[in-house]
Amino acid sequence: MTTMTYTHVRCVLCSVVRLAGSTLCSGRVEIYHRNSWRTVSDDGWDFTDAQVVCNELDYGTPVNVTHFGEGSGEIWFDNVTCSGNETSLTECRRSEIKSSRLHKYAGVICSVPLQQPSISLTSPNGGLVWGPEGAEITKGSSFVFSCSINSRYTPGRFRLFFSGVNLTEPAVNHSASFSFPAAEYEHRGNYSCVYELLLPSRTFTSLESAPIHFIITCE
Ligand SMILES: *[C@@H]1O[C@H](CO)[C@@H](O)[C@H](O)[C@H]1NC(C)=O
Ligand SMILES: *[C@@H]1O[C@H](CO)[C@@H](O)[C@H](O)[C@H]1NC(C)=O
Ligand SMILES: *[C@@H]1O[C@H](CO)[C@@H](O)[C@H](O)[C@H]1NC(C)=O
Ligand SMILES: *[C@@H]1O[C@H](CO)[C@@H](O)[C@H](O)[C@H]1NC(C)=O
Ligand SMILES: *[C@@H]1O[C@H](CO)[C@@H](O)[C@H](O)[C@H]1NC(C)=O
Ligand SMILES: *[C@@H]1O[C@H](CO)[C@@H](O)[C@H](O)[C@H]1NC(C)=O
Repeated sequence: MTTMTYTHVRCVLCSVVRLAGSTLCSGRVEIYHRNSWRTVSDDGWDFTDAQVVCNELDYGTPVNVTHFGEGSGEIWFDNVTCSGNETSLTECRRSEIKSSRLHKYAGVICSVPLQQPSISLTSPNGGLVWGPEGAEITKGSSFVFSCSINSRYTPGRFRLFFSGVNLTEPAVNHSASFSFPAAEYEHRGNYSCVYELLLPSRTFTSLESAPIHFIITCE
């Protein structure tokens, strides 16, 4: 029996593409084996195998399987066959490479579904009125913008955008509050939230929430 060490799998050539609220990660599958990154032969590579890679990378669910062109890089194993519930590609069945053949490389497209966050506004001490043009608040009143998202992914943070500025707060229970002690005229503008999912390898960004148009009125 041979002893092998695998530290991690990676999905390279990651590119972020926005598609109907999803952020996608796609790439060729590589596995670290015997001190080098090796590709995986695409023989027998299918959706179930791709699912194990997406789970292992914590990139959500696979949306497609891809194949990359022939090459001469070192290949890990041939005919990788997963049953879908493995926690790592290394637990899947596989065959030794028959070195004389040319191979294509296995790839995946994984999707991290991030919904559009929602935004709300409150004024703890009153002074907030919803008018036809948006939220109107009396100058000097305190106000709080809250962002929330329905996501099973953590850890994350929210970014509040307004007037060319952005503030960040960590997400606690998938929401965050941005408190302002006193409304000033400079606070007027459009406010919207974005959720950022922080994974070790990269940050995924949600679409922007609907905006709230914020108007400051005199005392
Ligand atoms: C999957 O990928 C193949 C090749 O890139 C493409 O032709 C096909 O349309 C994709 N299918 C889906 C559902 O995205
Ligand atoms: C690939 O693996 C499956 C299951 O392990 C096996 O049934 C099949 O014969 C293998 N195919 C090749 C070409 O090695
Ligand atoms: C996956 O599920 C099958 C039954 O569907 C089971 O036989 C197998 O042991 C499971 N494998 C793992 C790694 O949990
Ligand atoms: C947020 O603001 C900082 C400056 O405070 C800026 O460097 C950064 O690029 C902004 N981020 C985004 C996503 O706009
Ligand atoms: C987060 O949610 C859990 C369960 O709903 C609750 O027990 C906990 O107090 C919440 N934490 C915060 C900081 O709101
Ligand atoms: C806010 O958004 C509205 C449209 O929703 C736009 O007409 C207005 O110019 C924006 N205001 C600022 C300060 O960006």
